[in-house]
Amino acid sequence: MNALNEHLFSDRKDFEKGRLDDGQIPENPALLFAYWLKEAIERHNPEPYAFTLLTNSADGFPDGRIVYLRTLEDDGALVFFTNYNSQKARNIHKSNNVGAVFFWPNSERQVRVSGYASKVPKEFSDAYFASRPRESQIGAWTSEQSSELSSRSELEERFAEMSARFALGEIPRPPHWGGYAITPVKYEFWQGRPNRLHDRIVYRKENDAWLSTRLSP
Ligand SMILES: Cc1cc2nc3c(=O)[nH]c(=O)nc-3n(C[C@H](O)[C@H](O)[C@H](O)COP(=O)(O)O)c2cc1C
Repeated sequence: MNALNEHLFSDRKDFEKGRLDDGQIPENPALLFAYWLKEAIERHNPEPYAFTLLTNSADGFPDGRIVYLRTLEDDGALVFFTNYNSQKARNIHKSNNVGAVFFWPNSERQVRVSGYASKVPKEFSDAYFASRPRESQIGAWTSEQSSELSSRSELEERFAEMSARFALGEIPRPPHWGGYAITPVKYEFWQGRPNRLHDRIVYRKENDAWLSTRLSP
């Protein structure tokens, strides 16, 4: 066995940093999510608001990539921003059933969310776009996200063109760039525990009420 596989085979850790007891499970999972996210930040997890966004692609394979959570709404909706012509946006256009997976290693926690994605109001996207650094704004105008490039220099030339076009004044939001809100219909909260006896609590929305159950690890 080579050294890499030796390492993959043998490196393991136990989980011992927390627990999710029945008495700690609120009726509303959005409250638990917000609480875990705050703790993820306080415990200095790397990239605490990066999550894997899963969409359904036309070829039948699930399509996953990382995006940043930029707003957590009071009702639990998860907002991220992207290019509305990108691969993920094309997938969402066909099926707005999406998944989100967060991993907070310092907290030994994972959260899986399933929900429906929908575009946020234009004013919300305008406000977020206006808060971004100028170079990122120019980047949003530059990149036709997920389309093929002939070379790296094509992209850099376009960036130079856009920098000249928007040399002065405020940069408007490109019409093809904005936010999506994911409205959750299912959550799974996973807390690592010793001996692989992890806590797993699933919430499902049924008739506007949240029902929770505990799953075997
Ligand atoms: C840490 C991290 C954060 C990212 N955040 C975003 C984001 O908020 N929005 C976005 O469109 N892409 C983001 N990306 C890039 C995406 O992972 C992906 O490459 C891009 O959105 C194109 O995906 P698509 O072709 O499936 O649409 C991020 C990547 C990483 C590694």
